[in-house]
Amino acid sequence: MLAQYPEASAVFLDFSESMISAAKKKLRGVERGPLFLVCANYADPAWVRSVHSQAPFDLIVSGFSIHHQPDHRKRQIYAEVFSLLASGGMFLNLEHVASASPFGQEVFDQYFVDALCTFHRKQGTKKTDEQIAGEYYHRPDKAANILAPVDAQCGWIREIGFSDVDCYFKIFELALFGGIKPSDGGSTYGVWKVLTAVPASDGRAHG
Ligand SMILES: C[S@@+](CC[C@H](N)C(=O)[O-])C[C@H]1O[C@@H](n2cnc3c(N)ncnc32)[C@H](O)[C@@H]1O
Repeated sequence: MLAQYPEASAVFLDFSESMISAAKKKLRGVERGPLFLVCANYADPAWVRSVHSQAPFDLIVSGFSIHHQPDHRKRQIYAEVFSLLASGGMFLNLEHVASASPFGQEVFDQYFVDALCTFHRKQGTKKTDEQIAGEYYHRPDKAANILAPVDAQCGWIREIGFSDVDCYFKIFELALFGGIKPSDGGSTYGVWKVLTAVPASDGRAHG
């Protein structure tokens, strides 16, 4: 996003110092607007205070993170995100979600193991497919995943007041969902127009 909108100001938040340092390193030398790296834990509602001075935001994105929170806290976090957004601002959550049935979960697990095996083959590692599958099924962080179905999560954010709520993209247990904070004037497409603006051949942007 910063590559596409280098003038944008951004806040990066994580509770891991090493992730913040990695982000800092990655951003070094990149031409950009002001950036803020914040070490905070969103399990505690006080995290909002750590970014409040930069609010309201046109866009808030989260990647594969909120699924570690219990469902009641996920809902609160989505409400806190809503409070930090500008009118017309958008929330996008790329997330690991629960399958609707054991069938979906089995298909996802198989799909993921196949992808891991392909990755390991390309890397030239000596692990067998059985070893790779075993490590995946018995990974230690599995218990930390508290997955909720994407339709339930879309329902929660609709109740909070987001409009245009949808699961925009999904591959089995990986989903991109979110919504827009309605703008005061009634139009909900402020940030979406910016995100989809494609430079026209005459240099002007069109939505
Ligand atoms: C799977 S990684 C994803 C990293 C990155 N968002 C991405 O999509 O590539 C999950 C990240 O969420 C962070 N995280 C997990 N729980 C958190 C919490 N309660 N508060 C802040 N960050 C958290 C972890 O430190 C980790 O960096």
